[in-house]
Amino acid sequence: MSRLLEFDSTKCTRDGVCVAVCPSRIIRLEDESPIPRVVADADFYCVKCGHCVAACPHGAVSHASMKPEDCPPVRPDLALDPDHVEHFLRSRRSVRSFQQRRVERKTLAKLIQIARYAPTGHNAQPVRWIAVDSPARVKEMAGITIDFLRSITDEGGPSELPAGALVKAWESGVDLVTRDAPALIVAHAPAGDPVACADPILALSYLELAAPSFGLGACWNGFLMTAIHRWPPLSRALGLPEGDRALGVLILGYPAHKYLRLPTRRKPRIDWLE
Ligand SMILES: Cc1cc2nc3c(=O)[nH]c(=O)nc-3n(C[C@H](O)[C@H](O)[C@H](O)COP(=O)(O)O)c2cc1C
Repeated sequence: MSRLLEFDSTKCTRDGVCVAVCPSRIIRLEDESPIPRVVADADFYCVKCGHCVAACPHGAVSHASMKPEDCPPVRPDLALDPDHVEHFLRSRRSVRSFQQRRVERKTLAKLIQIARYAPTGHNAQPVRWIAVDSPARVKEMAGITIDFLRSITDEGGPSELPAGALVKAWESGVDLVTRDAPALIVAHAPAGDPVACADPILALSYLELAAPSFGLGACWNGFLMTAIHRWPPLSRALGLPEGDRALGVLILGYPAHKYLRLPTRRKPRIDWLE
């Protein structure tokens, strides 16, 4: 008998909600049984998403990895209406100028805690993090990225990056790579896992969206990202584990300026299929 799921017969009303929400369809409700049962091999098929626990209106379902009391109730009073959501998402900005103030490690840790609730393929939760909270170390990573940009400028051929301009700015004391940001976060996952390739990007998007509620601003960093892939000294300096692939980099800090308007964007192109 599998202990993966337990159903409290004193609470279960046989409403079938757990059966309906289970993505792996491992829960069965048979006519003669007072409570649901799980299929054979349920341990193999279960993705441990917790939907059965989260959707049961009676708190009757317990999963081996989470009991109802481990899962806080959804609070309707904190729900956002569409205007709030649209305003919140439209007011997110890529922040590139920062106060000279460090970001506390506990704040970065809290953001990472929030980001782990982003969806992951098969609920595999493969995302790992490298967090740099020392401004000097961020600057060191910028310097190594400049070495990479200098190397592609020196090759003399056309470059897909404005490498020459960044190197020139760096040599005159202006950091257009990390923009004097005090912190940096890299999200990575095992390279060989095709399902995991979107997960670090989604998690980092959650982190970027959560950052302003802590007074922080963030900006994705394509230069660091490219250098991590193409310039081994950078992945070494960051301590990226062998066999992992970095999929997103954010610079972070307390914004030096406030944005007072919501900039416009192109109309979406949508092809409706009837
Ligand atoms: C994958 C990705 C890479 C980016 N790389 C950089 C970068 O290297 N440097 C930079 O200043 N901005 C970078 N950005 C930020 C974009 O320039 C920015 O999102 C865009 O200009 C729109 O501005 P907004 O984010 O404030 O709406 C990047 C954004 C994304 C999504």
